[in-house]
Amino acid sequence: MINIAIDGPSGAGKSTIAKKAAAKLGYIYIDTGAMYRTVGLYLNRLGINIKAEKEKVINSLSGINIDIKYENGEQHIFLNGEDVSSLIRTPEISMAASDSGTVLEIREKMTHLQRNLAKNNNCIMDGRDIGTFVLPDADVKIFLTADVRVRAERRYRELAEKGEQVKFEDVLSGMVLRDKNDSTREFMPLKKADDAILIDTSDLSLDESVDAVIKCIGDRIK
Ligand code: DC
Repeated sequence: MINIAIDGPSGAGKSTIAKKAAAKLGYIYIDTGAMYRTVGLYLNRLGINIKAEKEKVINSLSGINIDIKYENGEQHIFLNGEDVSSLIRTPEISMAASDSGTVLEIREKMTHLQRNLAKNNNCIMDGRDIGTFVLPDADVKIFLTADVRVRAERRYRELAEKGEQVKFEDVLSGMVLRDKNDSTREFMPLKKADDAILIDTSDLSLDESVDAVIKCIGDRIK
C-alpha cells in the first residue's frame, strides 16, 4: 500500500489539501485530528478534566469505540455508532483534542487504529506525528506549515463562514496555545521528520498549496 504522511500545526491547510490530493490520486484521506477530537468530545461529555484527571481519562478509554467510514470520499467519524463529524469542529473540542493528544494511552489507542487503516489502504494521512511515529516508513512525508497569524486568519474565516461568533484575537491565542501544547508535549510531539519535505503555505493560495503538495507527491511516486 502507498502511504503518504502530512504533518504540521493547526490551520496550515493540511486537511483541505490532503483531501484534494487524495481525491486526485484515488487514495483515501485519513484525518487523524478527527480521532483526537472524538476522544476529546467523549471526555468532555463525561465532564472529565483531561489535564487534571488522568486516571479517570485512562479508565474511560475502554468505553470509546471509533469507526471511520467514507461517504462520497468524505471521512465520517463515529463515536460508539453516532456520527460526530460536525460536532467535533468547535474551538472547545479543538482544545480538548489537543489535551487528549498529551495522554500516552490515548495516543497508543489512536496509533493502533491509524496503522490498521494505513495497512489496508492507499492513503494520505494527516496529523502531528504521522511521519515521525505512526508511519515512519511512509512513501512520502510532507511537513506543511505557515506563519501563526496567517493560520489564525484562515481558521477565523472558516469559523465565521460557518456562522460561529468568534473574535480573531481569541482564535489567534487559541492557536498559539495549541501550537505550544502540541509541540512541547512529552509523547510524540509535533515535529518535522528528518526526511520530510517542508512546504510553507504562508504566501500561497489554497490552489497553489494543493499544487505544491501534489507536485511533491507526484515527483516521488511514479
Ligand atoms: O488536526 P486537528 O487540528 O484537527 O487536530 C486536533 C488536535 O488533535 C491537535 O491540536 C493535536 C491532536 N492531534 C495529535 O495529537 N496527533 C495527531 N496525529 C493529530 C491530532
